[in-house]
Amino acid sequence: STLGASAAEQGGRYFGTAVAVNRLNDSAYTTILNREFNQVTAENEMKIDALQPNQGQFNFGNGDRLVQHARSRGMQVRGHTLAWHSQQPGWMQNMSGTTLRNAMLNHVTQVATHYRGQIAWWDVVNEAFQDGSSGARRDSNLQRTGNDWIEAAFRAARQADPNAQLCYNDYNIDNWTDAKTQAVYRMVQDFKNRGVPIDCVGLQSHFTGGSNYPSNYRTTLSSFAALGVDVHITELDIRNAPSDAYRNVVNDCLAVSRCKGITVWGIRDSDSWRSNESPLLFDGNGNKKAAYNAVLTAL
Ligand code: XIL
Repeated sequence: STLGASAAEQGGRYFGTAVAVNRLNDSAYTTILNREFNQVTAENEMKIDALQPNQGQFNFGNGDRLVQHARSRGMQVRGHTLAWHSQQPGWMQNMSGTTLRNAMLNHVTQVATHYRGQIAWWDVVNEAFQDGSSGARRDSNLQRTGNDWIEAAFRAARQADPNAQLCYNDYNIDNWTDAKTQAVYRMVQDFKNRGVPIDCVGLQSHFTGGSNYPSNYRTTLSSFAALGVDVHITELDIRNAPSDAYRNVVNDCLAVSRCKGITVWGIRDSDSWRSNESPLLFDGNGNKKAAYNAVLTAL
């Protein structure tokens, strides 16, 4: 069997990967993609700098190419990401205040409208909280437009594409006892209490090794789920790809009914943004690694 087919048999879950659109020309890459995965996320091509390089000028070509590749093969698409402090185009980096708030909301509206009906989940806001013990919002030009920038982005996304599931996505929110995890949890709880439209939380889950795989990860997944949102493992990669850590992640997701699926952040180690750590399920030649077999067996 394959990762996607096995995940689908587990309550209709998905098993996906980040895709670099230029690699769709590499037949070894595309062969694995089309065989194994039933969900895709654009690794960079649907970020703000890619979609709106100049203010008011949208470049949907690469994003459209991925959506077309995926949807013609029955793969679901995660949109990544509408509002983020990073990978902003230069014109946006230099903005502040009301001008920036309006430009951000316009970007959300234009992009979500362009892809309306084609995106299963949007990462509406990415990485808005600080690491460490503060539990505070991350300082950024967007944060300085006012604390309500996140909910404003979610409301604009809902209005533009009412059928997309709207997610908050972040890293280092895997360990339940971390201040950052607790801070995101309280934000989601507050949004649910006040009727701010949010449907899901994405845990990026860029793990640095077996010892850093949090033993309370399942508690984190089930605690977010208990707020009435789905949870997604959105960017999984693990330094040196230990089979036991990969197996545990799969088992933890399967144990939580609202954990809808797992996306790994690339196909072959050579495709990874952390390629020197060999963190993925296929080696540079496209061969299945031990972690692949552990994942497939657990699914
Ligand atoms: C990374 C990509 O993999 C790289 O190619 C790019 O240079 C930087 O961004 N969190 C995220 C992803 O939400 O968008 C990031 O992707 C990895 C960390």
